[in-house]
Amino acid sequence: MARRKKIYEGKAKILYEGPEPGTIVQYFKDDATAFNAEKKDVIDGKGVLNNRLSEYFMTGLNQIGVPTHFIRRLNMREQLVRNCEIVPLEIIVRNYAAGSLSKRLGIAEGTQLPRPIIEYCYKDDALGDPLVSEEHIAAFGWASQQDMDDILSLALRVNDFMSGVMLAVGIRLVDFKIEIGRVFEGDFQRLIVADEISPDSCRLWDIETGQKLDKDVFRRDLGNLADAYSEVARRLGVLPKSN
Ligand code: C5P
Repeated sequence: MARRKKIYEGKAKILYEGPEPGTIVQYFKDDATAFNAEKKDVIDGKGVLNNRLSEYFMTGLNQIGVPTHFIRRLNMREQLVRNCEIVPLEIIVRNYAAGSLSKRLGIAEGTQLPRPIIEYCYKDDALGDPLVSEEHIAAFGWASQQDMDDILSLALRVNDFMSGVMLAVGIRLVDFKIEIGRVFEGDFQRLIVADEISPDSCRLWDIETGQKLDKDVFRRDLGNLADAYSEVARRLGVLPKSN
């Protein structure tokens, strides 16, 4: 058996060279980290759930014409994705105040925002992914003005799609983070949604009870993380009810 070439190992995922040129195998680990890896644990089954959930969201986005890196799920923990050059920004979309926005601006968690608010963080673990302005992004050349227009449009379309999908199963999409990749097609470059979309990267609250069904369960010691993610998967019909 040949050993696969590992391209990158992050906090929650490993990337391997894919079987065809331009592809990558994305492996979902069970590791959970928070506060820039100051808090760590292994949550049995988290990788399997996030692989399924990210497949579900990315497939839905592909179907409505929002391009993503997702090609197909390979097995319980792995999916085949398009290789892309990741834009060094975390794109955060917020519908309700929570987390760092609440802390920074003193707005109570759960307050509905007047409109979706987009924030950009510079992807750098050593710096703790600091919040940056469009001025920084332009001046340091992390993305062009055209890229920023495209990123805004992608982020808002992902927000519309994800908010609707969640609302249909009684869940409020409070906020989420996406990453964007560049793919090159001849003379053109296209931006696509990359990385993952899962309860690791979203805040999801039950509309009736306010129960948190996302990584805050781990960050704030609110209970069993795998149970929360399973509940999201069960409501979406991603896992059979017995699972
Ligand atoms: O911590 P903060 O309130 O800024 O997070 C906003 C949203 O972005 C949350 O849904 C969080 O899970 C997500 N996020 C993420 N990865 C980061 C930072 C935030 O997925 N490095």
